[in-house]
Amino acid sequence: MAGSVVIVGGTAGIGRDLANYYAGRGRSVVLTGRDATTAAKVASEVGGSTQGVALHLAKPHEIAGNLAGLGPVDHLVLAAIDRDANNVKAYDIAAAVHLVTLKLVGYTEVVHSLADRLTGAGSILLFGGMARERPYPGSTTVSSINAGVIGMVRTLSVEMAPVRVNSIHPGIVGDSPFWAGKPLDAIVANTLTGRLATMADVVNASVFLLENHAVNGVDLVVDGGWR
Ligand SMILES: NC(=O)c1ccc[n+]([C@@H]2O[C@H](COP(=O)([O-])OP(=O)(O)OC[C@H]3O[C@@H](n4cnc5c(N)ncnc54)[C@H](OP(=O)(O)O)[C@@H]3O)[C@@H](O)[C@H]2O)c1
Repeated sequence: MAGSVVIVGGTAGIGRDLANYYAGRGRSVVLTGRDATTAAKVASEVGGSTQGVALHLAKPHEIAGNLAGLGPVDHLVLAAIDRDANNVKAYDIAAAVHLVTLKLVGYTEVVHSLADRLTGAGSILLFGGMARERPYPGSTTVSSINAGVIGMVRTLSVEMAPVRVNSIHPGIVGDSPFWAGKPLDAIVANTLTGRLATMADVVNASVFLLENHAVNGVDLVVDGGWR
């Protein structure tokens, strides 16, 4: 029997669309969010063989216990984010520690916790983002952690071999819930394609990274040439 597709940060946005993609193709999906009730509700909405699990990435000591009930895992997607606005002149240390822990320690601890259940039939996909190259006011921590994802791919692809590890770095995803209702015309004007990346573009690229058996250690930019 095939292992599951685990999507950390699967209750909303791109992670949820990936859960829909794989559940729609008959895969067993485990999606996570911080709250058990929300995760269970989203899992039932996604349907098929989908299970919701509560997991808080900024509480890394609890992650192994949160994931203890899972069986074999083919694909592991780490998509969760809890954005903040922080800059060095008005530095909020608590917010920075929270976000650095969430992405750099939390993502890594999920991989550690599931390491002995990764079947090798699939791969690991980490989400970064283009704030690493295109900072904006308040992006100090977001830019740092998204750049950190590249370092994680380097080391994890070696340490987890033969399991493949890649990352995806979307530009602004124009139809994602986070950007809904926000002015984006000036950003669209700066793209080469005249359009922003879409949720469907990012799901498509994610599936490529997860499933192509020769793609390993790749940090894929999906921004239509925005950078
Ligand atoms: N949207 C974009 O334009 C864009 C651009 C570049 C990169 N990205 C990257 O793409 C990924 C997905 O982005 P998105 O906009 O689709 O996300 P989103 O809609 O904001 O969803 C975030 C997800 O993360 C979960 N989450 C938040 N805090 C968490 C925590 N402390 N522990 C565990 N889970 C937590 C949320 O679940 P609960 O709320 O249920 O806990 C939710 O499932 C992120 O890594 C983001 O950095 C997005």
